[in-house]
Amino acid sequence: MTMRPYIVGNWKMHGTRAMLAEARAIDRAAERLLKVEVAIAPPFTLIHATRKEANLIGVGAQDVHAADGGAHTGDISAAMAKDAGAGFTIVGHSERRADHKETNELVKEKAEAAIAAGMNVIVCVGETEEERDSGKAEAVVAEQLSGSLPEGENVAEKITVAYEPVWAIGTGRTPTVDDIGAMHRHIREKLVDTFGEDGAAIRILYGGSVKPDNAAELLAADEVGGALVGGASLTAESFLGIIIAAA
Ligand code: G3P
Repeated sequence: MTMRPYIVGNWKMHGTRAMLAEARAIDRAAERLLKVEVAIAPPFTLIHATRKEANLIGVGAQDVHAADGGAHTGDISAAMAKDAGAGFTIVGHSERRADHKETNELVKEKAEAAIAAGMNVIVCVGETEEERDSGKAEAVVAEQLSGSLPEGENVAEKITVAYEPVWAIGTGRTPTVDDIGAMHRHIREKLVDTFGEDGAAIRILYGGSVKPDNAAELLAADEVGGALVGGASLTAESFLGIIIAAA
C-alpha cells in the first residue's frame, strides 16, 4: 500500500490567535485534497484552538517534556499536549538540540513518553554544514537515529522520521535531489535494521527550505514520504502551494 504524502507545518515560535485564520483556510482546502495527509504543529498556546478550528488536518505539538508531570516550571508533558488536542509531537528538532542542548538520549525519552501518552512522534535528524562538508553526514544521521528512536512494542507504527539538514533550515538552500535520495535510502536502511519489516513502512519526511516552487522536485526524491515545512507553512497560500505540489 502506498501511503499518502504527509505534509506537516511546523509553525515554530510564530502565531497568536490571529493565525487561526490560516489554519481554517488550510483545513477547508484540505477537504479537497484527500490525496495528501496534512498537519500543523502550532505553538502550545494554539493547539487547543487550532484543533477546534480545524477538523480535517492533524494537529500536533513541537516538543514535549520527557516526564509525566511534576516540578518542571514552564514545561508541558505529553499528556497535557494530548489533552489540548495534539495527536502527535515533533521531537529532536535541530533548534531544540541546539538551543536546549537536547541529546539523543533525551530525544528518545521524549519520544517514548509521547508514545506512552498515546501520541505519534516525528523524530528529527540532520547534519550540520560542517559535518556534511567533512563527509560525515550519513554517520551523524545514523548515530542520531540509533540514539533517538524510541524502543518498545509496536512503536514503529507511531513513528515518522524527518530528515532536516541543519544548513538547509530557513536558508533557502537545499540539498540536491540525489543527495536527499541518498540520505533517505540510508535512513530507510537504518529503520529496517532497527524495526525489521515495520521499518519499511515508516514515513521519512524531508525538511529544510521546502517552498511551493521546489516542493514537487524535492518530494519526488527517493524514499521521501512528505515534508516538514517551517517558514512556508505560516500562510495558507504558501502551505497550500506545497500541499498541491504533493497531491
Ligand atoms: O521543521 C521545519 C524546518 O526546520 C524547516 O524550516 O523554514 O526551512 O522550512 P524551513
